[in-house]
Amino acid sequence: MSHNSFGHLFRVTTFGESHGPAIGCVVDGCPPRIPLTEADIQHDLDRRRPGQSRYTTQRQEPDQVRILSGVFTDEKTGVQMTTGTPIGLTIENVDQRSKDYGEIRNKYRPGHADYTYDVKYGIRDYRGGGRSSARETAMRVAAGAVARKVVPGLLVRGALVQMGPHRIDRSRWDWDETGRNPFFCPDAEAAAFFADYLDGIRKKGSSIGAVIEIVAEGVPPGLGAPIYGKLDADLAAALMSINAVKGVEIGAGFEAAALTGEENADEMRLGNDGKPLFLSNHAGGVVGGISTGQAVVARFAVKPTSSILQPRLSVDRFGAETDVVTKGRHDPCVGIRAVPVGEAMVACVIADHFLRHRGQVGETMPWPMD
Ligand SMILES: Cc1cc2nc3c(=O)[nH]c(=O)nc-3n(C[C@H](O)[C@H](O)[C@H](O)COP(=O)(O)O)c2cc1C
Repeated sequence: MSHNSFGHLFRVTTFGESHGPAIGCVVDGCPPRIPLTEADIQHDLDRRRPGQSRYTTQRQEPDQVRILSGVFTDEKTGVQMTTGTPIGLTIENVDQRSKDYGEIRNKYRPGHADYTYDVKYGIRDYRGGGRSSARETAMRVAAGAVARKVVPGLLVRGALVQMGPHRIDRSRWDWDETGRNPFFCPDAEAAAFFADYLDGIRKKGSSIGAVIEIVAEGVPPGLGAPIYGKLDADLAAALMSINAVKGVEIGAGFEAAALTGEENADEMRLGNDGKPLFLSNHAGGVVGGISTGQAVVARFAVKPTSSILQPRLSVDRFGAETDVVTKGRHDPCVGIRAVPVGEAMVACVIADHFLRHRGQVGETMPWPMD
């Protein structure tokens, strides 16, 4: 099973499956002399960790990360830093309950990768979906914690902006609020509504989808490359690779189709510092595949959790029709825990393009240009 790596200069390879002994990743290409501890990575992992509220799966995984390689503690300063060699990270799987999956070992769960993996590879790891399980996304979050440190001044934050058909009120957007409710929701009133709404969904044994917005600030202008190395194309691919993601938008996204040219153009003026200042950001911080220096804004739609308590029609490996009822522990809205995963993927793509830009262009262009 190939294709387990992404990124060019900041290159991440993940390994492991839901019910194996451990999951892990190798981050190759991280520059040397960046302070990095397990605590830095753990902070991000704890935000994705399951079992933290009644709105996420009760699988109890401490998700304790270990740094196996790629760091060294400077004797003079006592600071642990990256060495420039591959950073190996692992997390043990401690709360697997494979017996939860015994009944579906030969059945294909609708909405899961059971049928597609089987029809492609001819071997089925039925324990929690094996490699297709979103357990793998913990390693993306770990790699993302390293990526965040590669670009000086980079701040990547995510928020849940829609649950089912219900959108937040953007005029109430407060980043601090995302840390105060279990939904990473920036609108306190919407979060209170989501609590009741999701309780109702959960009690029915059902599930619901969500839209997540990621905003990356401190992205220098000039990252990304024309044609096949576009920053927005790489962001879309990275976000689309997250489990259960069915749509990605950059900036105004699909709404741009409803705008006129006058509305959509991000007009330019000179700011107080004499540098270009954009009067709006419909582009989502990327034009021609290259960052403008504005915030990079991406949104992605997460489908409702496929594992639900309601029976669904399916077929089994022996060619018979059957139905599937999911046992085991599942999130009623996987979009919630997808927030830190989306942040991590955006951080990895930006770190990769930062290093690629430094590799090809290096210097910062003067302003004004002539
Ligand atoms: C953080 C996260 C947690 C997830 N947990 C579950 C889950 O508990 N149950 C489930 O049915 N799907 C879950 N998923 C989604 C499945 O992994 C995914 O739908 C499945 O592998 C099929 O792949 P696809 O939806 O990308 O096509 C989760 C996704 C994410 C991002």
